[in-house]
Amino acid sequence: MKLPDTARFSTVCIHAGQEPDPSTGAIITPIYQTSTYVQEEVGRHKGFEYARTQNPTRLAVERNIAAIERGKAAYAFASGMAAIDAITTMLESGDHVVVTDNTYGGTFRLFEQVLRKYQLSFSYVDTSRLELVEQAITPRTKMLFIETPTNPVMRLTDLAAACELAHRHNVKVVVDNTFASPCVQRPIEFGADLVVHSTTKYLNGHSDSVGGIVIAVSDADIEWLAFVQNAAGAILSPFDSWLVLRGTKTLAVRMAQHNLNGQALAEYLVSHPKVKQVLYPGLATHPQHDLAKRQMRGFGGMLTFDVGTLEAAHLVCKRVRLMALAESLGGVETLISHPASMTHASVPPERRAQIGLTDGLVRISAGIEDPADLIDDIRQALA
Ligand SMILES: Cc1ncc(COP(=O)(O)O)c(C=O)c1O
Repeated sequence: MKLPDTARFSTVCIHAGQEPDPSTGAIITPIYQTSTYVQEEVGRHKGFEYARTQNPTRLAVERNIAAIERGKAAYAFASGMAAIDAITTMLESGDHVVVTDNTYGGTFRLFEQVLRKYQLSFSYVDTSRLELVEQAITPRTKMLFIETPTNPVMRLTDLAAACELAHRHNVKVVVDNTFASPCVQRPIEFGADLVVHSTTKYLNGHSDSVGGIVIAVSDADIEWLAFVQNAAGAILSPFDSWLVLRGTKTLAVRMAQHNLNGQALAEYLVSHPKVKQVLYPGLATHPQHDLAKRQMRGFGGMLTFDVGTLEAAHLVCKRVRLMALAESLGGVETLISHPASMTHASVPPERRAQIGLTDGLVRISAGIEDPADLIDDIRQALA
């Protein structure tokens, strides 16, 4: 089995990083549930010494996702947050980071409540407005940390332009690509230096594993990430590595249905008299629809709509039958949530207002069910 250099996306997803198991020919990379490896003599081994440092199942998923994101190498961690934390070890005391203003709440918490203790500073700006990014850059700025689309208001950042701007100022660009998935957008193709994922979401895709991964392109970043993965030790377990590896095999077909269902729900909701606004990059009414068409292949499975009040939003979340009321996203089953009281409850109300996160917003992570069933469910919930 040899993956040709010309292999297309879905073929890469299925095969990259994997060979039939050398001892048995098993087509699926086994779960190497071991803590250590026997050496033939001192210093003579098969490239594996201790399982925090190297594990064949983890290595397979790292090589697979590095290829999927068009990076040179990847390092898998125990969660998305552990992966983001590993990236921040590239910073030194006194450094400054510019961050997308409505970044994931857990990222905000890590930056503000943990990393500020180590004399790192963070400025939160609307990265869809590059003039604001440029204004926020200081001589101490070392990193631009972007999420696009943002959760839950679906604002986009022009990745090519943001990378060009940051690199002009010698600033490294990190993109959290969890929300879109590499099927929809691959930030390295636009110039990003590092891509991070919560593999918990679309990469695993089945709501049965928590994990994270960092994809890198420069040799210096690769060397540091390998070092820090071993030094700090927040590694992805062999079983979780195997689950994510199984997940990525179907990434392309799952994303095709997520995209379709996201679009179908958005178009249905736009026409509903009780819905005030629908935020989805695939709608022609989205203020950045042209950028979405340039930067994304399909518009993803995440959408948000406004039903006007907190009470109405809570009622929709309560009345759905097929959709599950839960945090998280990117699984095959459709989830619904109320950002103001769930994922973004810790964000102060005035900050929520600033980013357009109103009490009436409801977020859907469209799964891969039949779209007609999802529309039936939301119709009866809104009735
Ligand atoms: C965009 C984004 N980044 C990072 C994370 C953190 O990932 P994890 O929950 O795997 O630590 C999440 C989790 O919801 C997320 O949505």
